[in-house]
Amino acid sequence: MTASSSHGAVTAVTVDVWVRRVADLPGGRDLLDEHERATLARIVRPATAMAYAAGHALARRAVASVVGSPPSSLQFDRTCATCGAPHGRPVLVGSRGVQLSLSRCDDWVAVALSTALPVGLDIEPIEGVGFPGFPDVALHPDERDVENTSADELRRRAVSWVRKEAALKSLAIGLRTDPAGLRTPPSGIPSEVLGDQARPISVTVHDLALPWPEAAAAVAVAGQARRVDVRHR
Ligand SMILES: CC(C)(COP(=O)(O)OP(=O)(O)OC[C@H]1O[C@@H](n2cnc3c(N)ncnc32)[C@H](O)[C@@H]1OP(=O)(O)O)[C@@H](O)C(=O)NCCC(=O)NCCS
Repeated sequence: MTASSSHGAVTAVTVDVWVRRVADLPGGRDLLDEHERATLARIVRPATAMAYAAGHALARRAVASVVGSPPSSLQFDRTCATCGAPHGRPVLVGSRGVQLSLSRCDDWVAVALSTALPVGLDIEPIEGVGFPGFPDVALHPDERDVENTSADELRRRAVSWVRKEAALKSLAIGLRTDPAGLRTPPSGIPSEVLGDQARPISVTVHDLALPWPEAAAAVAVAGQARRVDVRHR
């Protein structure tokens, strides 16, 4: 999935992306591990539970297709870097270089994989950014157009949000960084995002072309990538 220059710097990164409608996915609860089953059992809302199970089964199938192990045999370390609880970014145990990111909402689940650099992924329904307080909590002050609630503006807000969340997930920071303090990264061009200890890190974000106009999604790669190719699977 990766080509390296003679200096060892990564020159090209391929990110494989699986985006699916929850309703289109086969079962898969039997693939989940003990942690995932326990988490699933605590989710009260049926749509949330369906998406959780579908997302983790999809992730297991996707990783298995790359590493060649049975989906149910894969083990993930989810240790949170902040508190040590098992709710952080999943890392494949014995990873053989595989980096992954998961995202889900009620209707869609998505997984991104790379064997080169850390990845981040986010998918959101456009309607999810339509509430009045969204610009204040999510958009940089220079990018706010609070009065405008046109369909184009809602899409712009959703694209901004998924790009930022994908970038922050690729850095394993997530929303520990205030998204309103971050300008929207461009799509397809490397930009600098502040990582932990406010260290600038190069992140390349790509908008994902989806067959559903009701959703927006983006994937991000953290680190020096001279080119990022996104492959829909
Ligand atoms: C990561 C985060 C942005 C996801 O938000 P979301 O939009 O609700 O959810 P998504 O469906 O897009 O993504 C959820 C997945 O992101 C992954 N994830 C969790 N923490 C992550 C992190 N710090 N970085 C990257 N990915 C992370 C997990 O795979 C999670 O799904 P899982 O728990 O079922 O495995 C949000 O949960 C967050 O910011 N978490 C970190 C905040 C933090 O570290 N706080 C300190 C806690 S002590």
